[in-house]
Amino acid sequence: MTVKLGLVGTGTVGCGCIDILDAHKEDFARHYGVDLEWKRICSRRSVQAEARGLEDIFTTDWHEVVEDPEIDIVVELIGGTTTAREVVLAALNAGKNVVTANKALMASFGEEVMNAAAENNCEIAFEGSVGGGIPIIDPMKHSLISNEISSVMGIVNGTTNYMLTRMVDAGLSYEEALAEAQAKGYAEAEPSADVDGLDAAAKIAILASIAFNSRVTLADVHAEGIRNITTTDLDAAHDMGYCVKLLAIAKRTSEGVSVRVHPTMLPLTHQLATVNSVYNAIYVTGDAVGETMFFGEGAGAKPAASAVMGDVLEVGRHVAQGVKPLVGCTCTDKLPIVPMDDLETKYYLRFTVADQPGVLAATASIFAKHKVSVYSVVQRGKKDAGTVDLVYVTHTAREKNVRAACADIVALEGVVFAEPSIIRVED
Ligand code: HSE
Repeated sequence: MTVKLGLVGTGTVGCGCIDILDAHKEDFARHYGVDLEWKRICSRRSVQAEARGLEDIFTTDWHEVVEDPEIDIVVELIGGTTTAREVVLAALNAGKNVVTANKALMASFGEEVMNAAAENNCEIAFEGSVGGGIPIIDPMKHSLISNEISSVMGIVNGTTNYMLTRMVDAGLSYEEALAEAQAKGYAEAEPSADVDGLDAAAKIAILASIAFNSRVTLADVHAEGIRNITTTDLDAAHDMGYCVKLLAIAKRTSEGVSVRVHPTMLPLTHQLATVNSVYNAIYVTGDAVGETMFFGEGAGAKPAASAVMGDVLEVGRHVAQGVKPLVGCTCTDKLPIVPMDDLETKYYLRFTVADQPGVLAATASIFAKHKVSVYSVVQRGKKDAGTVDLVYVTHTAREKNVRAACADIVALEGVVFAEPSIIRVED
């Protein structure tokens, strides 16, 4: 059977999809009995469609795609939450299945989109929205369904992982690493979405919603980026047997769902510590399966198009077989989001302090006052400058107590010379 496709967006991922279908159309038909065919292609500019000989089916008006009665699946690859949201909702309301790689849409408007799909008895698939080519949404919705998932931890932003890797391997400063990432085309000229953790926050919102059967939106995710990470902290971490990664973390706790993105110290022996450069990995722990890790290229035209076309083929098979949507929204519970103040974890804290008698005792007594138990303290370097770094690692403590202790330490008169570094630690 021929399954007809509409494509909205011919950027790098859209073109990657056209190229994959060009290369594998006959394989798909032979292996799966589904003949996929582009019926309409929409973009602001025709150049990419023309370059691929698809000018006859090109349009600049997305309505012509969603209103085409022959189209079975609309592939939305324009991104963002304005026009893309209109396209996706219009397509579903017109009875089309939708495949998208739009993390912002799914993280902020997932409930609306999933409801529209359910109301119209249509399917929406979004594997490409997280981790580029890495299969993670489908495994969590299918293969791991018999598990209670306790945590999902991911390196889901390739740009920041590249920058942190270069800061460690080449001793680059944050600014140098950013300039290099921009020169290589990984980071945007305005890099905020990556370096401030927002891209990763959208991705972990999507994964947390699936993992815990409870809707988590982008607004629920506490996001901190890597702007304040220094080589001093990376060196100190390494000396203690740790690396620093920008981790997206979602955990099921007795108080609800803890969901956050921040630089995190991980033991060098942890599987995620081996994930370097632009690679992504997602570490999922379930009660039956135990610990699993999904690894691969988290960005780029071909990996993302691989995920999108996998969805297209699977939805296409359902269309060809005449089956109803197999898995829709799985957010049946309403778990509370644990406020950051109530987070319980371990902390690395570095204070640049005056090298003089009584400073260690004063800081230690402040930790005691706030019920923060210290696991280790090390004094590092810079003696000649009259200041040294005091590096504390705590036992598990409450975030609000650690923050209060840090504020008191910073307020000690003439003692602290810079903003403290605060990095959460995962064992
Ligand atoms: N900018 C993202 C990254 C890829 O660096 O991983 C798109 O989500």
